[in-house]
Amino acid sequence: VRDVRVCLLGFGHVARAWCQLTSDRSAELADRHGLELRITAVGTARHGSLVSAAGVTPAELLAMVSGGDHSFPEPVRPGADLIAGSEADVLVEATPLEAGGHAAIAHLEAAFASGMDVVTVNKGPIAWAYRQVRDAADRAGRRLRFEGVTMDGCPVYNLVERCLPGAAVLGFHGVLNATTNYVLDEMTDGLDLTAAVAAAQQAGFAEADPGDDLDGSDAAAKVAALANVLMGADITPDQVPRDSIRHLSRDRVAAARKDGKRLRVACSARRDPTGALAVGVALVEVGPDHPYYAVTASSSVLVLQTDLMGDIEIVERDGLLPQTAYAIYADLLTLYGPR
Ligand SMILES: NC(=O)c1ccc[n+]([C@@H]2O[C@H](COP(=O)([O-])OP(=O)(O)OC[C@H]3O[C@@H](n4cnc5c(N)ncnc54)[C@H](OP(=O)(O)O)[C@@H]3O)[C@@H](O)[C@H]2O)c1
Repeated sequence: VRDVRVCLLGFGHVARAWCQLTSDRSAELADRHGLELRITAVGTARHGSLVSAAGVTPAELLAMVSGGDHSFPEPVRPGADLIAGSEADVLVEATPLEAGGHAAIAHLEAAFASGMDVVTVNKGPIAWAYRQVRDAADRAGRRLRFEGVTMDGCPVYNLVERCLPGAAVLGFHGVLNATTNYVLDEMTDGLDLTAAVAAAQQAGFAEADPGDDLDGSDAAAKVAALANVLMGADITPDQVPRDSIRHLSRDRVAAARKDGKRLRVACSARRDPTGALAVGVALVEVGPDHPYYAVTASSSVLVLQTDLMGDIEIVERDGLLPQTAYAIYADLLTLYGPR
């Protein structure tokens, strides 16, 4: 059994769910995949840090913060310090998305400089600086995996990389933001926007501040990440025009419903014949025959438009935390599991 040493930045919902999954599967990881994960450093923004030369198991880590104020014993330390001192094989980046992605980009570059691989569920580096971090990985001879940045653990990047050799992605479109999807469904059922957002928050689908979702910023980051990785683009989310649903009226939603239609926030990218890239996040109205119509609540859909395989439709039903935790689990197996 091989020890894989992990530096974990961010210990929120996703990191905890991943620790739980890894803990539940520890016997299978060892017996079937020959791996034991040991966490040698953990960083948070306000809840302390942990450095352990010997490393702790994910189960031990969860037990450490199961009571009281959920804090680690040592003071908060800058991510770069933790990475440099962690002697880890891999950085798992699970800090929040921020405009510009600066902190997470710096974390990835520090990890590569320290000879580590990286698994990130934070879409910032892929949306804002994909070429920069990919080139940093290449220069260091290290590897970068990021399946969790777009459709939780549902294979998108792995699908294209591993299953579509020789095919080009010409464009894509899809519904990729659970918060707006949930809010639009609630409004279709008759709530106004404020009540629909409150319902989404209560159900755990919206942050305390849902602005990035309502204004299309989260969706724009997904468009940039997909276009950068799958279509060779070099854009940032700032270059993705977007519709906000912040001022959407109940009447507008009711009118669509009266016509037998639903509103959806659609992400898209397409190259025209000259090679120019058109990207966007737009509020669209769809009927029952459209692939978006049945994609409700936290489900999502992505249609990849390819040259050799036509359209490929990927649907994730009810993507929640366990699916994002699986993205980290799967990326680590891709990096360190048996070939
Ligand atoms: N939730 C989902 O279903 C989902 C799905 C796909 C992708 N993602 C992505 O996964 C990432 C994590 O999401 P989450 O829901 O777990 O977020 P979360 O619950 O808000 O947790 C974020 C964690 O990051 C820590 N943190 C913040 N800034 C940091 C920094 N500069 N250095 C070290 N730690 C820092 C926070 O510390 P404190 O606790 O001290 O504040 C917290 O532990 C995000 O990028 C998100 O977009 C989430």
